[in-house]
Parts: sequence; structure tokens; C-alpha cells
Amino acid sequence: MASGQRLFLLTIVAQKTLGLVIENTFTTPNIGYKHFFYIADLLQYVVNINKNGLDLSGITTLTFKVKACQDATIIMSNSDDGNSSKPMYQFLIGGWLNKKSAIRRRNDDSLTADSKQGFTFNTPDICQCDEYRPFWISTTNGVLMMGKGLIVGINVIAEWTDLNPFTIRSIGIYTNRGIIGEWKVQIGVVNNLYDGRFSRCTANYKAVLNILISKKNTSLLECAVLCDTLLTCIGLNYHNQR
Ligand SMILES: *[C@@H]1O[C@H](CO)[C@@H](O)[C@H](O)[C@H]1NC(C)=O
Ligand SMILES: *[C@@H]1O[C@H](CO)[C@@H](O)[C@H](O)[C@H]1NC(C)=O
Repeated sequence: MASGQRLFLLTIVAQKTLGLVIENTFTTPNIGYKHFFYIADLLQYVVNINKNGLDLSGITTLTFKVKACQDATIIMSNSDDGNSSKPMYQFLIGGWLNKKSAIRRRNDDSLTADSKQGFTFNTPDICQCDEYRPFWISTTNGVLMMGKGLIVGINVIAEWTDLNPFTIRSIGIYTNRGIIGEWKVQIGVVNNLYDGRFSRCTANYKAVLNILISKKNTSLLECAVLCDTLLTCIGLNYHNQR
């Protein structure tokens, strides 16, 4: 396929905003009741949003939309391999039968009282069973914040400053108390994560993308050839981890 066609496709999905964002959809299944403070191996119940091999280390903000009746939960963990004994934050939206939200931290998987901290905030009717509700989360410099809408910093609903913050290396989501959730999670692309054709985007445009395919152990050339053969491929992310 000629690169002209690819640029055409990219134009279709481009939106006039700042930065480059990747949007992925997820479903969080019914996992029964798994309280953040009482389940040692919590991460095994969490849907990792890093399913496509994106490098999320160092990410400090997240925007997403979620459709769930209550108990929509985001976990930001210091572990990048699902180790629940590393520190983690929980952002709980619409707990207490959709009356309150919470920001929580645990140091490890000991479940002892002094390894846990939690703060609650009144947020009546924040979730909706049949409607995608937009939210943002920010953890910049240990200031943990959560808000409504997709603009980080606007419409704050919860805030707590962690005096001993840790680096976030993975992000997961789940819905507690038997609830099922539908999510559209957006990841801002930082650094040169996307190169090649994306360098033609101007600073004023944001492309909302779905990842088509994720491959490991492939050379840059093989990636480029694969992208060429797929009509829907508008660019590639080559991240050499060797
Ligand atoms: C999980 O993390 C803890 C604390 O850093 C560490 O002691 C332990 O070895 C890790 N477990 C695995 C399986 O990597
Ligand atoms: C990918 O590369 C790693 C490290 O070089 C190697 O251990 C692994 O077996 C490779 N996987 C495949 C499917 O070739």
C-alpha cells in the first residue's frame, strides 16, 4: 500500500487537540467481591491495560470512560509483572452503592493495618449502568487526584497527597462486587514511543487509535512490512527492548 493511503487514513482519525493518544476498550468481568485491603494477590484479578506491549512506566495521568453500575476501580502498581507485594494505589469510583469514591494505598501484601491508607469522598450517583462516564486520574509528584471529564485537573472529585510516592509501572482496572464494566481507556503517548509515520502529525493534532496487532521479537523492518500489508494500519510502534 502506498504511504499516501496511510496518511489519508490517519487524517480521518485525527482530532484537533494536543498530543497523541491511544484508546483501548476493555471489559472487566464479574470477579465477585475483592476488597483492595483484604486480598493479598489482588493483581491477579485486575485487567492490565498494558495488553499491547505499550511502555507505561512513568505514566502519571490517565483518562478513560467507564460504563458500570458502581465500583469502577483503577489500580496503579509499582510492579510491572503483577507482583501484588509491591506498593499500589487504588482509585475507586462509585463504591458504597455508588455513593462514595476512594483513594487508597497499600505498601505490600501483608494486609496489616499499618501497610494501608485510605480516604473517602462523597460522590453520589457518579457511575451509570448504561452510560459511559468520563474520568481522569493524576499522580504527578505524589499528588493523587481523580476528577470528572477528560481534562486532567478540572472537576476534581478526590485528592490526597502521598508523602512517600512510588513510580507507577503498570495500570490495571476491575469492577468489584459482581459488577461488569465496559471501559475506553486513553493513554497519552509520551517521548518517541511512536515514530515513523507519526512524526508527520503536527503538534496540534491527536490521533485516536486502536491497536490492531501486538508482536514480540520482530524487527523494525518486519513491523513496517506488516503495517504496509494491512489496510487499517496507520503507523507502528517499534520499541526495542533488547
Ligand atoms: C515480589 O516483590 C517482592 C517485594 O519487592 C519481592 O521480595 C519478591 O521477590 C517478588 N516476587 C516475585 C515472584 O518476583
Ligand atoms: C523472544 O526473545 C527472547 C529474548 O531474546 C527469547 O527468550 C524468547 O524465546 C523469544 N521468543 C520467541 C517467541 O521467539
